[in-house]
Amino acid sequence: MEGERERQIVRNMRFFSSSCRSNVRLPGKTVVVTGANCGIGKETAKDLYRRGARVILACRDTNKAKEAVNDIKERCSRDSENDSRNQPGELEICQLNLSDLKSVRKCAQHLLSTESAIHILINNAGTFLHPFEKTADGFETHFQVNHLSHFLFTLLLLPKIRESGPGCRIINVSSLAHKAGDINFEDINSERSYSSIKAYAQSKLANILFTKELDNKLRAAGIQNINVYTLHPGVVSTNLARHVDRTIFRGAESMWKIVTPFVKTAKQGSQTSIYCAVDDKVGNESGLYYDNCKAVRPSARARNPELAKKLWKYSCEVLGLPNDMELEELLRTLSREEAEQ
Ligand SMILES: NC(=O)c1ccc[n+]([C@@H]2O[C@H](COP(=O)([O-])OP(=O)(O)OC[C@H]3O[C@@H](n4cnc5c(N)ncnc54)[C@H](OP(=O)(O)O)[C@@H]3O)[C@@H](O)[C@H]2O)c1
Repeated sequence: MEGERERQIVRNMRFFSSSCRSNVRLPGKTVVVTGANCGIGKETAKDLYRRGARVILACRDTNKAKEAVNDIKERCSRDSENDSRNQPGELEICQLNLSDLKSVRKCAQHLLSTESAIHILINNAGTFLHPFEKTADGFETHFQVNHLSHFLFTLLLLPKIRESGPGCRIINVSSLAHKAGDINFEDINSERSYSSIKAYAQSKLANILFTKELDNKLRAAGIQNINVYTLHPGVVSTNLARHVDRTIFRGAESMWKIVTPFVKTAKQGSQTSIYCAVDDKVGNESGLYYDNCKAVRPSARARNPELAKKLWKYSCEVLGLPNDMELEELLRTLSREEAEQ
């Protein structure tokens, strides 16, 4: 009886999770999903594969990615036994370590040379409440993994996405935590004082500001075939809390595990990403922030166009890119530099 009551509470709480209801099929479409070996990214990859897309799992650990590929194939083949109309697509793996800009460039170069098109890019990978650490490139880990590397990865892939035909989409997975964030240009790497919560919130605010400014720059450049979206997936039961024992307090991860039955499953957490990636309802929208498959208003800072421009310039500067160029010229410069490497 007690167990049934708990199950009912869980059903009620999960009832508030919206689903992407689109039946769109994606044969002939290529999708790249970062951090697709587990959690929200894996469920997103599975859904798009099931719709017939060629899905590239861009992951830092290729063994984990292989396990994810096998699991997705097995689960989909079980399902498709009952429905032969829905042929799944293809699954590929590309190594991508977002803590290392060399790896970002290498992965992008590989995709540019091997893929004839990229229609959907989902920047999903993320690290949460990480202990203070600088990457090999000298950036605070949240700032680089969650924002800077995805910023570079997107710019590198943009020429390919641009030539991939109409209806292309870029999705940046942010978080409600952006509301607690600000961009601390004076100490972006938190060297003077470190709070893992502030560092995560800063990086998730950066995801939204990047989306807004990329949308502006695409429109200013007259690039009509790419729309950009950003979102909060909900509070989702995944491996995301893996560092909290070290940064919040010992036992925090166990406490998180107690509440996970009451939050969204990874499949539910993937719905807003899938909605932004495929649903016709948002085919004419760009630069907006979504929660539970609906456009909602992010924080005032996330809507500040000056802050978005400043972060774009800053990101170019620290990556050694010209910070004052129009998008077209910037992409040409980047492609030239990559070809010379
Ligand atoms: N779960 C939530 O409640 C929640 C709420 C709001 C926003 N989000 C956002 O949702 C996204 C997905 O998170 P999740 O909940 O699915 O967590 P997750 O299960 O921990 O997945 C995170 C993914 O990111 C990858 N990743 C981490 N650091 C990386 C690096 N340096 N290079 C390449 N990949 C890296 C992980 O790879 P490894 O397995 O190799 O570590 C994993 O594939 C994140 O952007 C997160 O900020 C989640």
